[in-house]
Amino acid sequence: MKHFLKETDFGVRELAEVFARARTFKRERGRSGAQPLAGQSWAMIFSKSSTRTRVSFEVGIHELGGRPLFLNKNDIQLGRGETIEDSARVLSRFIHGLIVRTYAHADVERLAAAGSVPVINALTDFLHPCQIYSDAFTAAERWAAPGGDLVAALKGRKIAFLGDTGFNMANSWILGASHFGMKISLGGPKGFEPGPEIRALLKSEGRTEEFQFTTDPYEAVAGADLVYTDVWTSMGQEAEAAKRLALLKPYAITAKLFAAAKPDALFMHCLPAHPGEEVEQAVLDNPRSVIFDEAENRLHVQKAILSLLAGGK
Ligand code: CP
Ligand code: NVA
Repeated sequence: MKHFLKETDFGVRELAEVFARARTFKRERGRSGAQPLAGQSWAMIFSKSSTRTRVSFEVGIHELGGRPLFLNKNDIQLGRGETIEDSARVLSRFIHGLIVRTYAHADVERLAAAGSVPVINALTDFLHPCQIYSDAFTAAERWAAPGGDLVAALKGRKIAFLGDTGFNMANSWILGASHFGMKISLGGPKGFEPGPEIRALLKSEGRTEEFQFTTDPYEAVAGADLVYTDVWTSMGQEAEAAKRLALLKPYAITAKLFAAAKPDALFMHCLPAHPGEEVEQAVLDNPRSVIFDEAENRLHVQKAILSLLAGGK
């Protein structure tokens, strides 16, 4: 059973297929097209808040002819202690696929292992692969020649990731950069270095590509084609908000810091943003900020991922 729990669950050929299908879905949206999820129901179990992921998946499943079933974890017996394994086995008798947003990455792996339908990771504390594929597609749209090879357009490009360099978005970009053939430089304070889990995953996949970590934000952005940041207090970290705000302040994307990247560098943020914290409003408003294209592309890229996992053309 094929799942999409991490960036590298799709090989390079499948990645190219996802991008090609996303480009077609984007171009042909609204015209009657293929409905690879016709007759299917996909459940979405969410334990955390969501705007983009929830809406893009619900709309995407609908547009592919399927039916989304949104299940807040606390509304189902999983929230009252039914095991992950039994939940996966039961749901697999009804549905055709499962989309999960939760805390522990291991919980998504357990659902995938126990069930008999494809599982998509819609964000864990460890990784957010749907976001990274959409981000990479968004950058490739800008960097490729019209109609050109989207995957090839990423090769050799440098991303600078600033701020919380030890959590899901940074981890996912470390793995993603390696998968896409990009270079990555992370800028964050001491104590926020990429952790042992992501290092172990890179090693287990035999990835020798190195990532650079520096406490100097200007060193991180030097020569970058893409400057990226994320919130400083992720879902589940609310109790640490004040401490994080103080520690991460030097890594805010100011207009001055953004100007230290390449002159044509793009700015990205997975959103939601907190203007005045991790990024200045002027950077969010910069013509090279592509934050809303990233958000829109969640729809097209996830439709491509869904159609691939559903086995359709
Ligand atoms: N970027 C992202 O995943 O947004 P949501 O939390 O709104 O889904
Ligand atoms: N790091 C953030 C990403 C939100 C899309 C969080 O986990 O809350």
